[in-house]
Amino acid sequence: MPTDASLGHGLHAVRLDGPTDLDGFRRACRSLVAQGIRPEQVTWEISATSEREAAAEPDLFGGALSQANEHDAVDAGAGTAHDDIAPGEAQALRVPAAFAALCGSAILHRDPARFALLYRLLWRFQRESGLRQDPLDADRMAVSRLAHAVHRDLHKMKAFVRFTRIKPDAESAPDSEPDGPAALPLHVAWFEPEHHIVEAIAPFFMRRFTQMHWAILTPERCVRWNGSRLEFGPGAGRDQAPPPDAGEALWLTYYRNIFNPARLKLKMMQKEMPKRYWKNLPEAVLIAPLAARAHQRSAAMIASAPTMANRRRVVLMAPLAVPALAVARPTNIAELRAATDRCRACPIGEHATQSVVGEGPLPARLMFVGEQPGDQEDLRGRPFVGPAGQLFERAIGELGWARDAIYVTNAVKHFKYELRGKRRIHKTPSQQEAAACLDWLEREIELVQPAALVALGATAARSLLGAPVAVMQERGRWQARADGRQVLITLHPAALLRTDPAERAAAYLRWLDDLRLAAPFAPGPTG
Ligand code: URA
Repeated sequence: MPTDASLGHGLHAVRLDGPTDLDGFRRACRSLVAQGIRPEQVTWEISATSEREAAAEPDLFGGALSQANEHDAVDAGAGTAHDDIAPGEAQALRVPAAFAALCGSAILHRDPARFALLYRLLWRFQRESGLRQDPLDADRMAVSRLAHAVHRDLHKMKAFVRFTRIKPDAESAPDSEPDGPAALPLHVAWFEPEHHIVEAIAPFFMRRFTQMHWAILTPERCVRWNGSRLEFGPGAGRDQAPPPDAGEALWLTYYRNIFNPARLKLKMMQKEMPKRYWKNLPEAVLIAPLAARAHQRSAAMIASAPTMANRRRVVLMAPLAVPALAVARPTNIAELRAATDRCRACPIGEHATQSVVGEGPLPARLMFVGEQPGDQEDLRGRPFVGPAGQLFERAIGELGWARDAIYVTNAVKHFKYELRGKRRIHKTPSQQEAAACLDWLEREIELVQPAALVALGATAARSLLGAPVAVMQERGRWQARADGRQVLITLHPAALLRTDPAERAAAYLRWLDDLRLAAPFAPGPTG
């Protein structure tokens, strides 16, 4: 079969490393332009990383390519005839600055003709000086349409990915001892993007959910964040995604409650939330029934008398909705961890990564109780490992006590925080939240059987003694619990970290004096 004699060149088949191989595409373009190879002489193919991709990306000019064996083949990824061109020989490509950015987006489009289109436009930019001034040129408009569709797909993926919490992430807890560090839960989402956007969107989810371990499964590509790096893998099936969880039920309740029938604009809603996404959006099942009743509900709202806004009342939370121990009575610390992890007797647990229970020997003569896990503790599943924990460890070290010989825990088992930007700022748990955790703390005391306890701060003192304690007045004193155990009152180490630097050294020495009072119950010296 003769080559296209009128052009005087053979056909060139460019093979890219994958559907989003922008570097390979750029390299190939530079090389093709340098050799004066016209767009119509080039066929573009993807060396498929999976059969699915191969099926999804048929060769643009199948017939021509199969005849092209005798002609040049350009492998854009793996060093090619064209890569042999010295950089100096390859002429610099002249393109408007905006074209490069547009190209980066358009290449993610699913249309198999995108490479041919982009190369044709690139080629024309080298030769047609008027093209820059012609935004209505058909090729330029076609590339803009591709980039626009990709941006829309990226936007939809940001909005419609819904994670389901499935199980501890085995990788986050290599240590499988029952009392070893708890594994972080893994959050998994299933999504079906229209275009090849998984790699492009992954950094967004990494920044947005840095603290979580998560995976997003899609038919073409999967991505996973393990807390320190993004990993990509081949596509998955819908059946590999987890079924709905309790969090989803909560989300549906929330969605139902925020749905305002008087504001329903179905067309607008469908534009924002196109139907093709509905099958993977748990809330979509609510749209039809809520929309069907919207008219009736807004008519009822209009007909009913106005209600006066209540003045803000402080209402003490009802006693625990579900007394924690009515659900389960842990017989060891591992069971306590599992039970507190599931506990939703107060709202804190819903937002924490995991529960954090105490650690130390069983039994232990001395038990320290802090307030609640902080950011680091929440992520690592261990008490007192953040800045306050380091100060605590230094103090007991200076007193000559080995950390692993004392039991250290918190009154509240989940991290309560407020999001400020990307930072999770510690919030003191309310009395009701601490009360919701009381059953767990008491069960932990039964399991640890300490001879004495140290309350670090007001929350711990109140939980241990069942009444408010003025810590600054009572510090350095022992008080008796209802079970007869003695509790030493002192400050929380975080209070020392907040002390004026000029006074911190003296405050620290005074705190050491408080702690030293527990020496009769303390373990032997370190080392
Ligand atoms: N503060 C606490 O009270 N407990 C911890 O585990 C960490 C900080």
